[in-house]
Amino acid sequence: MTIVLDAPRIVITRPLMTLKNVSKSYGAVQAVRDASVEVFPGEVMGIVGESGSGKSTLLRMMNLEDTPDTGSYTLDLPDVQGNLFELDRFARRMLCATKIGIVYQNPHLGLLMNHSSSGNVAERLLVAGERRFLVLRDKAQIALEASEFPLERLDAPPIELSGGMQQRVQLAKAIALEPALLLLDEPTTGLDVSVQALVLDTLKRLQQDRQITMVIVSHDLGVIRTMADRVIVMRRGVVVESGLADQIFQDPQHPYTQQLVHAKL
Ligand SMILES: Nc1ncnc2c1ncn2[C@@H]1O[C@H](COP(=O)(O)OP(=O)(O)OP(=O)(O)O)[C@@H](O)[C@H]1O
Ligand SMILES: [Mg+2]
Repeated sequence: MTIVLDAPRIVITRPLMTLKNVSKSYGAVQAVRDASVEVFPGEVMGIVGESGSGKSTLLRMMNLEDTPDTGSYTLDLPDVQGNLFELDRFARRMLCATKIGIVYQNPHLGLLMNHSSSGNVAERLLVAGERRFLVLRDKAQIALEASEFPLERLDAPPIELSGGMQQRVQLAKAIALEPALLLLDEPTTGLDVSVQALVLDTLKRLQQDRQITMVIVSHDLGVIRTMADRVIVMRRGVVVESGLADQIFQDPQHPYTQQLVHAKL
């Protein structure tokens, strides 16, 4: 009898997103210093670090809201070429509307607080060129449903909703066009612990169902531990450590990461 063993298969995957040697200063403050990040298709990348360490600045650059002083940004997607920091405003807007979704800690940054919740999601579709009313309504509803938003509140403006529900509207808006990359900046910070757990459950479910590539920023190691496959640790604008989440939590190498992890335990 011959036993044929499968040869080990090595799958080489290219990063979906590559930020290379990115630095950004605001006046005398160097918010991000020479940061390089690769995010692979389908993974959840967590970014942790103390307040002011440059996490949001890095995420804003990934969302093309901010341009670094130096560095490059590429996305490995059809029809997307070159250093995205060199795109003009219109091209950036279209790319962000169609390929990148973002959820901010502060819903005022992501939503029109006095427009209906479904209108907020439809607005994202409008920016991307959809004009058919019925399609807009259906797609907005599907995205809100996927974000586990109660459909009887479709017409309610975010200003009348709880913090957890506002985050679900932001999430629906962010995923409405099935983005290649979903960016989350402290999406559950400030919510009650029980609400936070529910929103994280929704994010996990979405990730499992759709394999959306995510980058999630949080100063809360519990959130990062729940969500992330890989983690980068930032301190004073510098990426001081990166690795698999299990490695970072069980065997942190950098003294700052050790301090963070031990403070949490
Ligand atoms: N638009 C801006 N103008 C001036 N300084 C800024 C601006 N954005 C960020 N900074 C500064 O850059 C540094 C990094 O800020 P950033 O918001 O990226 O940190 P963070 O890690 O997200 O902090 P937090 O956990 O408090 O949200 C801080 O010193 C901050 O004050
Ligand atoms: Mg921040």
